[in-house]
Amino acid sequence: MTDTPDKSSRTVLVAGGTSGINRGIAEGFARDGDRVAVFSRSREKVDDAIAALRALGAEATGFVADVRESEAVSEGVRTLCEKWGPLDVVVSGAAGNFPALGAAMSANAFRSVVEIDLLGSFHVLHAVYPHLRRPGCVIHISAPQAVLPMVGQSHVCAAKAGVDMLTRTLAQEWGPEGIRVNSVIPGPVENTEGMARLAPEDSQREAVRRSVPLQRLGQPQDIFRVCRFLASPDAAFVTGAVLPVDGGWSLSGASRVGDSLAEVLMGRLHR
Ligand code: HXC
Ligand code: NAP
Repeated sequence: MTDTPDKSSRTVLVAGGTSGINRGIAEGFARDGDRVAVFSRSREKVDDAIAALRALGAEATGFVADVRESEAVSEGVRTLCEKWGPLDVVVSGAAGNFPALGAAMSANAFRSVVEIDLLGSFHVLHAVYPHLRRPGCVIHISAPQAVLPMVGQSHVCAAKAGVDMLTRTLAQEWGPEGIRVNSVIPGPVENTEGMARLAPEDSQREAVRRSVPLQRLGQPQDIFRVCRFLASPDAAFVTGAVLPVDGGWSLSGASRVGDSLAEVLMGRLHR
């Protein structure tokens, strides 16, 4: 590993970048020639992601940390930046989810999701702030639950709405320093843990697919392409934006009763 980056290569950190959508984003930046670091809780997943990023020809590294543990995240970021220097792009997408009705959920169940998604996002912001290049940018990976109430998702709705308000307030606070902060809201993405948890059966995912105006589920690459734009000079005047990348799902399909995920979750939980 060299300490001096290639001139054209940026330094990208993806929090929760070891599987699913976030890993797709990490791989997208790696393919573009950026050097990429990832972290999450599982050593095995971190090592696997690093190997995959290197196989794409990128300089890659990672560390193990739970976003709920502020000091562990800060220490990981500090050590990374001692080696690689300042961060150009931070993608923050660690998250937890399970379907459960509000009344049936323990306080600890609610807390666990809020702590991962919302407090965890704050910990990442706090950890990276001293190490972000000016200009630099942060991209939060939010969810449709941030803007649409969804049965069985009170914890995720509350947490992701909070994440998007972090985007907006920190965009105001950090804008004068040249740091842009934006959110991307992926729609339902194929072959992901999130979809497997909410719509485990093929027929359920098919119902979701039909409720997307563009009539397909997303791919991690769909989400990456918008992150690539937000991280690029083309988005130099974009900050505080909360951008759906969802085939139009959030226009109505996500919450329409009688179709889609709303129906799937009501069928599963209101028995
Ligand atoms: C009710 C549940 C539950 C369930 C866990 N809990 N699963 N309650 N129904 N299905 C409760 C537990 O009983 C416990 O409460 C509390 O939640 C914490 O559970 P732990 O297992 O101890 O927590 P932990 O090991 O920290 O794991 C966190 C987790 C887990 C969120 C519960 O599922 C996780 O690590 N998930 C990460 C991966 C993931 O979820 N990926 C999908 C992201 S998709 P008690 O009271 O018993 O102590 C996404 C959006 C998708 O975010 C959008 C699609 C459109
Ligand atoms: P995923 O594969 O489970 O991704 C979650 C990532 O976060 C994993 O790398 C996981 O790794 C890490 N993580 C979870 N808890 C963590 C913690 N406490 N500390 C550090 N890292 C943690 O799920 P996904 O479905 O691809 O979701 C990725 C992102 O997209 C999430 O922000 C989700 O809300 C959002 N999203 C997903 C969909 C969808 O259709 N799937 C739709 C909208 C939004 P470890 O297990 O190793 O910690």
